[in-house]
Amino acid sequence: MTEADAPEPGQGGSRVSRRAFLGAAGVAGVAAGAAAGGVAIGRATESAAAPAIPARIPFYGDHQAGIATPVQNRLFFASFDATAEHQADLRELLRSWTAAVVDMTEGKPVGPVAGPQALPPVDTGEAVGLPAARLTVTVGLGPSLFEKDGRDRFGLARLRPAPLADIPPLPGDRLDPLLSGGDIGVQACADDPVVAFHAVRNLARMGRGVVVTRWTQVGFGRTSRGGRHDPTPRNLQGFKDGTNNISIDDTAALDRFVWVGSSEEPSWMRGGTYQVTRRIRMFIETWDRTALGEQEATIGRRKLSGAPLGAAHEFDALDLEAKTPAGDMVIPLDAHVRLASHQENGGLRILRRGFSFSDGIDPMTSEFNAGLFFTCFQRHPRSQFVPLQTRLSEHDALNEYIRHEGSAVFAILPGVQRGGYLGQSLFESA
Ligand code: HEM
Repeated sequence: MTEADAPEPGQGGSRVSRRAFLGAAGVAGVAAGAAAGGVAIGRATESAAAPAIPARIPFYGDHQAGIATPVQNRLFFASFDATAEHQADLRELLRSWTAAVVDMTEGKPVGPVAGPQALPPVDTGEAVGLPAARLTVTVGLGPSLFEKDGRDRFGLARLRPAPLADIPPLPGDRLDPLLSGGDIGVQACADDPVVAFHAVRNLARMGRGVVVTRWTQVGFGRTSRGGRHDPTPRNLQGFKDGTNNISIDDTAALDRFVWVGSSEEPSWMRGGTYQVTRRIRMFIETWDRTALGEQEATIGRRKLSGAPLGAAHEFDALDLEAKTPAGDMVIPLDAHVRLASHQENGGLRILRRGFSFSDGIDPMTSEFNAGLFFTCFQRHPRSQFVPLQTRLSEHDALNEYIRHEGSAVFAILPGVQRGGYLGQSLFESA
């Protein structure tokens, strides 16, 4: 973690902030005031030990923000397909997206929200008056951008990183192609849903003629911890989710399991990572009819405290050897945490950063179409996510209550330094 932990300095530059568009008297509220003044919003009231949370998360750095930066509560994810035919069009799009993302993460519009009466305004306007809301926009490239149906679409095929390969079909998958794949992934996270939506909407608008939106996903509650001091949130099954995740403060684990290292190939990916997204439907009505003891045995942890079965506190270690007096495993053999644990997977770990979703009602059953938009970051999906999910899909007790419906993988571009743009290292190698 570098820049992202530090509170953002005051908002320099000549462009006005979104809030300034309304005038200082037009907006009240602590968050808005703090964002406009660049003042960190303290959380001292929540936890005396917790560090202040910055109002803005810096865009520039060795890695893109939105991965090992504090987790916000709202997600708007979009997967795009490229319709352009020339590499130069993609490069120009990523250049213009970079400038827009820089502005939006500083709480500014992407251009004028008012201008000539005869023209549509450049910025769509719905975020005017809102603070930056810790917006992060994280951009990745899908395997199909490099090669599709055997075709080198943009002259980039030879630069496709080996780890960037479609996730193979896995047992139990019920994937909907309309909720899967894509040439470019854009993950926008913020503390305000309008800010996250505005970011993707404006990028989509700028992308017209070069990309079309393939699928989107709204997420409304984080299911991972941001760091050591961050209380663990709960998923829609009511369990604490993220307890045993890699902490964003753990730079050694991030270097080992998440970031593409400085000697890895292809060199243009150094500082990047790979994201897998899985839209996982939860059958929450079935879950709600399940006895507490069965719920806890399914996960392998206590519901309220989050403690591993057989232990007293949330952060106690899993004891995978412990047996009941009757000789059964305290943490059952098919419990989710046992099967997912690094102890049972040769030390393998991933950085999870999922969000809850609810997309109306399933017309066939009148049940909630809700679940977990699971995303994880890693150095090599084929040796991290794939073996882990293969094991889960074969043995996890949780499978009775969930179904994987969407899947995608993206090479997350390295971070950008001032003056640079997203994807620069790729296009300069082409
Ligand atoms: C709807 C689906 C899922 C639900 C409801 C769920 C829920 C949970 C819960 C409640 C925990 C315990 C708290 C924690 O340590 O975070 C956990 C742990 C974990 N989950 Fe999941 N999970 C789901 C899907 C997945 C998938 C698809 C993967 C990876 C392929 C995964 C990997 C992990 C890992 C690595 C842990 C930590 C295990 C440990 O070392 O203790 N989960 N999950």
